[in-house]
Amino acid sequence: MEAGELELLIPAGEIERGVRELGSRLTKIYRGKQVVVIPLLKGGFMFASDLIRCMDLDLQIEFLGAASYGEQTRSSGEVRLTLDTTMPLKDRDVLLVEDIVDTGLTLAYIQKLIRSREPASLRTVVLLDKTARRKVDVEVDEAVFDIPDRFVFGYGLDSPGGFHRNLSDIVTIRE
Ligand code: PRP
Repeated sequence: MEAGELELLIPAGEIERGVRELGSRLTKIYRGKQVVVIPLLKGGFMFASDLIRCMDLDLQIEFLGAASYGEQTRSSGEVRLTLDTTMPLKDRDVLLVEDIVDTGLTLAYIQKLIRSREPASLRTVVLLDKTARRKVDVEVDEAVFDIPDRFVFGYGLDSPGGFHRNLSDIVTIRE
């Protein structure tokens, strides 16, 4: 993909500001509690690593991995678990951190899995919310940015072939 084909959607500075503000809100919400933060891999790793540094709390990290089979720019809705947690979640305050919610099928699957483990609470934060594509009603407590129905990547999200996760900005393909 040539640089000229890319269109900047959310610059790094705006992401940084949004993440910092979310971190402050979560610090207030969870004050006095010990939180288990679960980045959903792969896409959620960069958002989560920046977010936890803006959370002034006692927290632990666990990981869940999910992937959906499908075309390269659309998720298929068939979700599979690629990595599971190692620590019991029962009676814990769990914060699920996801890069993007599109159809909602991945989040619905993962939230159901976490709830089956009986946490004391479950909160879900996402960086990007593509509401136009929603297929299932899924609970999102906070979305940093609402985005249009465009294929996006960068800042943890991949382009076809699994590249561009290392970009600092969120970009899209020029139409
Ligand atoms: C992407 C993204 C979300 C999911 C959102 O994951 O990270 O988990 O799709 O789509 P949905 O709301 O329609 O389910 P992907 O399967 O591409 O895996 P990745 O996180 O490894 O990039």
